[in-house]
Parts: sequence; C-alpha cells; structure tokens
Amino acid sequence: MASLGHEVVAVDVDKEKVALFNTGVAPFYEPGLEELLKKVKTLTFTTDISQAADCDIHFLCIGTPQKESALQADLSALERAVEEVTKIAKPNSLIVGKSTVPVGTAERLAENLQKVKPSVELNWNPEFLREGHAIADTLQPNRIVIGASNSANGEKLANFYREVSPGAPIFITNFPTAELVKVAANAFLATKISFINAMSEVADATGADVSLLADAIGADDRIGRKFLGAGIGFGGGCLPKDIRAFLARADELGLSETLHFLKEFDLINQRARTRAVALALRELGNPKGKKVAVLGAAFKPDSDDVRDSPSLEIAETLHTLGAHVVVHDPRALESAAAKFPELSYENSIEETLAGADLTMHLTEWVEYRALDPAKFYKLVKVPTIFDGRNVLDVEKWQRAGWKLLALGRSL
Ligand code: UGA
Repeated sequence: MASLGHEVVAVDVDKEKVALFNTGVAPFYEPGLEELLKKVKTLTFTTDISQAADCDIHFLCIGTPQKESALQADLSALERAVEEVTKIAKPNSLIVGKSTVPVGTAERLAENLQKVKPSVELNWNPEFLREGHAIADTLQPNRIVIGASNSANGEKLANFYREVSPGAPIFITNFPTAELVKVAANAFLATKISFINAMSEVADATGADVSLLADAIGADDRIGRKFLGAGIGFGGGCLPKDIRAFLARADELGLSETLHFLKEFDLINQRARTRAVALALRELGNPKGKKVAVLGAAFKPDSDDVRDSPSLEIAETLHTLGAHVVVHDPRALESAAAKFPELSYENSIEETLAGADLTMHLTEWVEYRALDPAKFYKLVKVPTIFDGRNVLDVEKWQRAGWKLLALGRSL
C-alpha cells in the first residue's frame, strides 16, 4: 500500500519485530520484501496503536492459528485487536478484516461494532496471498472479495481497490459468503493435493506412475495440473489448520457429514509423511547411527516458514528413531533450529551430503533442482535420493549413478 503512495502505519504487539522493521529488516523471508521496504517512504512501524487513530482504513491482518488442543481456530488475538482498534478508530473510518475466520465471525463482530461505534463500518476482505509470492499476489490479486452488511457498505473499500489493483475482479457480498470463499478456496486446494496423494497410494499398490497420471489428468483444463504435485503433502500455517477449523465449524453447524471428506484428506496428508518415513526405513534398514541428509526445511520453497513443515516432521521422526539427521535449507535454518533444536543443521550442501546413507529432497527449492548429481555422487556414502516433491530430473540423477526413490512412482 505504501509503495502505491498511501500513508501506512503498521502496528504490531511484537516489539522485536517492530524494531527490526524500523531498521529496514524483515523478520521473515519473503522474496523482494526488503528491497520494497527500502524504497517506500510512507510506511512506519509502531507498537503504539494510537498512532493509527487518524487512519481512514484499518486492516486487521491477525493470525488465527489452530487452538492447542482442538481443531478450532484461536480467535483470541483477533478479538483483542478488534477491541483495540475500535477504541481508536475515528468516525466514518473503516475496519477491514483480512484474517481467515470461521463463518459467522464477521457478522458477530459487526454487530458489536454497531453497538459501540455505529459510525465505523466493518468489512471482511479475505487474503489469498501465497507465501513466497506475497508481493505480486498483493499488488496484482486475481480477485478481491469484500463482505459487508450491505453492498453500499462495501463500495468504499471497492473504490479503494479499484485504484490499488485496477482490473482485478471485485466481488461484493455478505459476510458469510466472504468468509466461506476463503475457507472453501483453501479446502479445495487441500483437496486437490490430497486427491493426487491418494492416487499416489493407489499407484504404489499397482505400479502406476503418479506424476504421469497428474500430467495426463491435468491436461484436461477442467481439472488443471496446478496443485496436483504429489509427494509428502501440504503443510504451513494455512491449509492444514484451515481444513481443521472448517471441520470444527461444520460440526457446530450440524454439517459434520457434509465436510467429512476433509477429515479423510487430512489423514491422506498425514499419511504422505508416514509413507516417506517408511520408505526411508526400508532403505536404511536399522536407522540407528545412519546419516540422513535432508534438503529443505521450510514448508514450501521461497519461504522461511516452518509451521507444520512436512519436511521437518519427517526429519524429526527419523531423528527419534535414531538416525543422524542433518538438515539444509537456503533460508529456513534459523526458524527450523528454533523449533527442532535437537536436529543438526548445515549451511553447506556439501557438508550436509558428506557421508550420507540416504538423501531426502523434501522442499523443492530451485537450488536443489539445479544440483549436479555427478558432483555429489562420491561425496555421499550411499547414492540414494528420495524425491519427496517429484520434481528432480530422474534421468539426470540416474545417469550420474544415483538410485531415485519416490512415492507413487517406481523409478
Ligand atoms: C495457501 C493458499 O495457496 C493461499 O491462496 C492462501 O492465501 C494461504 O494459504 C493462506 O490461507 O494464507 P500458502 O500456505 O502460502 O498459501 O502455500 P501453498 O502454495 O498453498 O502451499 C501449501 C502447501 O501445499 C505447501 O506445503 C506445498 O508444498 C504443498 N503443495 C502445493 C503440494 O504438496 N502439492 C502441490 O501441488 C502444491
């Protein structure tokens, strides 16, 4: 928003993050973000919410993670933020929720706001950006969804977006539809991934090749190849917790049967991780003392986010079983080490692979695809690599003498 000329006050409760941002450093990795931060002149960071009192629009970008011991989303941080922002919001300003919330939340918040500050409107405007593509997804979104108490109340925000992102389709709707668009989109993406991973299980049992299957069914543009990447499944702070929160909400609405398939897809996703561990164990025999080189810690490439990372769960399981697991990642080593201090971490790919009994490619950073397998053939103890993302050039690795393993494919 600041890069487009708006004056922006970014408020966070985390003093350390705010301090870092104020020195031009982003506390997480997102391609292009630091460069953009250096360019913008109208963006300030603060922990003092009163500095935002003069703003015309207040965007709520608050995390709604899964509760510790339940499927539901934890809305406590969001509720606190709404309370704080309501106190300082000036008359006729707009509060815009971007957080992913259970359907019904926005209506409830809007009713409360109406009682406390009737001149301030609430809109719900779900966020669809992907980590690793956050800037492009924000500046050129493929759609803008605005939930409001009536369509006239959504127009102010729609006008704002018409200037910010000209050409992007804008859907103005009621609160429940806006909330549902978000969870339905993530549930659909999770469904696609788990569907292809279910096919991967069938392929394992029958000798079919899941990658070619994905290419062939994906060539039908009604199906599409995107998000049919079979492998160790989805992780991160969104897809897993969003389908669980959706299941919990469906239960409350008396619709548990309707969304029961999401439970199955969650299980298929979990199984992809255990299938990878089983494959590793088949290869290693007794894992005790064996060195396993893990390429990739982040839940996806171009991010240092390790929340519910399939890669780290697999690494941690093998470590627990006695293997010596060494993890490499171009960006996520710090966040991985903070979460799993018991694993070993290496900055150099050479050191990671040196003497390895098994190499596991678990996050598809472009760096890994560019590796020269011939160079590493002599460095490892056993030249076997598991491609957990099905993106490595099979022929290139096999030509260099490596044995390739994958889920849903016999290579
Ligand atoms: C996801 C959605 O794609 C965004 O539209 C949404 O805004 C975001 O969640 C959110 O709710 O905030 P993100 O979590 O950044 O974005 O990551 P994705 O690109 O969706 O990937 C999620 C996981 O699925 C990753 O672990 C990735 O490796 C895995 N994946 C993706 C597969 O296993 N196979 C595929 O074919 C594609």
